[in-house]
Amino acid sequence: MSTSLELDKKKLPQHIAIIMDGNGRWARSRGLMRLMGHKAGVKTVQLIVKAAREIGISALTLYAFSSENWKRPATEVSGLMSLLKSYLESELAFMQENNIHLRTIGRKENLPREISEVLNASIANTAANTGLVLNLALSYGSRDEIVAAAREMAKLCVAGKLRPEDITEEAFSGYLYTAGLPDPDLIIRTGGEFRLSNFLLWQASYAEIFISETHWPDFTREDFIAAIATFQKRQRRFGKTGDQVSGNN
Ligand code: FPP
Repeated sequence: MSTSLELDKKKLPQHIAIIMDGNGRWARSRGLMRLMGHKAGVKTVQLIVKAAREIGISALTLYAFSSENWKRPATEVSGLMSLLKSYLESELAFMQENNIHLRTIGRKENLPREISEVLNASIANTAANTGLVLNLALSYGSRDEIVAAAREMAKLCVAGKLRPEDITEEAFSGYLYTAGLPDPDLIIRTGGEFRLSNFLLWQASYAEIFISETHWPDFTREDFIAAIATFQKRQRRFGKTGDQVSGNN
């Protein structure tokens, strides 16, 4: 618990996004079904949401289900959907007690009705909460998000409601699912792979990336704090030189 004291509270990442990878390998290495890895992964979700709130992170985005994950075996997809439903049902009280505001990014319309119902209820119930924004990426694909934003803006241009010259980076960001959220400062990927897997491609432009070899079910509060501590040691340059950033010229 006290490890969070090692973090510099003035340099916390505002928004952390996590690619929760390695559930399947975690399960297989124990001779278990892949779904057991996802089940264990839900416990890590609970642990990390609690830690993020306690540390004082403003937004936490979790890549829970990608648009490509629909291609997995039907039993795995339906197992993941039931885990998501029971997570949402069991966590609402915790979210309320802890002032957590639930949001989602992704094609919510593609989720089974029983999931979108419980999801919409949780989103509505937590809408007035002002603490941690817990943002679940569900049926999310970044290229799809970018194309949808471009299409929406193109329609407005054709309708004469938007001028092409008004399409700026800032305006474009406002048409993404993440509108209103700061870009992620830190992206953590567990499971040891070095890729973004169609996650927040636009928003990740200047994010620091932290790869953990640990499979998601084994990822701990201490690992999370260590990732933030590593972030705090990095120099973010946003295209400038190191000297410019450190004020040496
Ligand atoms: C990637 O591991 C993980 C997923 C596709 C699903 C993540 C879902 C959870 C952690 C649980 C449900 C989430 C919530 C928010 C309740 P993988 O299966 O690709 O692992 P592998 O690379 O080892 O096969």
